Amino acid sequence: MDAMRQTFLNELAAATTPEAVEQLRVRYLGRKGILTELRKGTDMGSMDPEQRRQFGTRFNDLKETIEAELTRAIGRLKGAPAAGRQSLDLTLPAAERRSGSLHPITLVQMELEVIFRGMGFQVLTGYDVESEFFNFDSLNIPSDHPAREMQDTYWLTNGMLLRTHTSANQVRALGELGAPLRAIFPGRCFRYEAIDAKHENTFYQLEGLMVDREISVANLIAVMRALLAEVFRREVTVRLRPGFFPFVEPGFELDIQCLLCSGAGCPTCRTGWLELIPCGLVHPNVLRHAGVDPEQWSGFAFGLGLTRLAMMKFGIPDIRLFNSGDLRFCSQFPVAL
Ligand code: FA5
Repeated sequence: MDAMRQTFLNELAAATTPEAVEQLRVRYLGRKGILTELRKGTDMGSMDPEQRRQFGTRFNDLKETIEAELTRAIGRLKGAPAAGRQSLDLTLPAAERRSGSLHPITLVQMELEVIFRGMGFQVLTGYDVESEFFNFDSLNIPSDHPAREMQDTYWLTNGMLLRTHTSANQVRALGELGAPLRAIFPGRCFRYEAIDAKHENTFYQLEGLMVDREISVANLIAVMRALLAEVFRREVTVRLRPGFFPFVEPGFELDIQCLLCSGAGCPTCRTGWLELIPCGLVHPNVLRHAGVDPEQWSGFAFGLGLTRLAMMKFGIPDIRLFNSGDLRFCSQFPVAL
């Protein structure tokens, strides 16, 4: 039996797959297996009691060894990824943990929201799909007004439109909440534009509206100054020039000197300046459309180009990168500012 035990152990050592071990189990322990044949082939009747006892003990011992070794071999082989390979390699580099990051426009929007909340503004949002009334008519832009041509519009078949500017929120919010009101409205705008380095057909603006007693251009400039100082955290050269928008009177264009070329002129800005914050005092007709008496209340409004601001802040030379969906672009910005 010792020789049989040794033979079994040698055969088991050569069995490198669970299937091979299973074949051994059948061959040794099966109904017609080697152990059964051994017991049947032994004439125990001719043995004296002491010989019979010794045979039984050795037989059971051999059987238990074979069963235990087979179970161990199966466990070992099933746990291993492949025959002959170690299942755990502690020298392998750890799996890379990739954390997400925020889109640069989201980062700038969040930063502006904090700044404006600090000045008492609430953050509101409107609708991407707007009515002609809130996008144009309520803002002093009737259907035959040439200003509509400045904003080539995506019209929907039901007469609604994709808002061309966040100014569409002015009368909607003022009409609902009444005066006094301090609010900003960040959001997406859509225009049928020829796309280039600084024009997209889908871009972000951040509208601001402050309506109160005796609001003047001085209040407007103070808020713009505070905003730019916080956003850029460095000296930025700005210029204010007259600008025409039917819903403000007077109206201004606040431009900043291009931070990519320091005003020298580059493929992005071309002129050394970047149109950033059109603004002005809210036109009395707009207040009337919102049910607010222009004799009692006045206000200022601005429509900051959020996408362009992100370009200046992060030194992004081409606006088309924002909507590219390219992770190499999106993932290089900090998780928070
Ligand atoms: C307007 O949209 C006015 N509603 C802004 C306004 C609000 C004026 C309140 C007065 C009072 P404008 O069309 O200039 O104005 O756009 C505002 C800003 O949006 C621009 O200065 C620019 O920064 C940005 N912008 C406009 N068109 C695009 C575009 N195609 N791609 C990227 N940014 C754009």
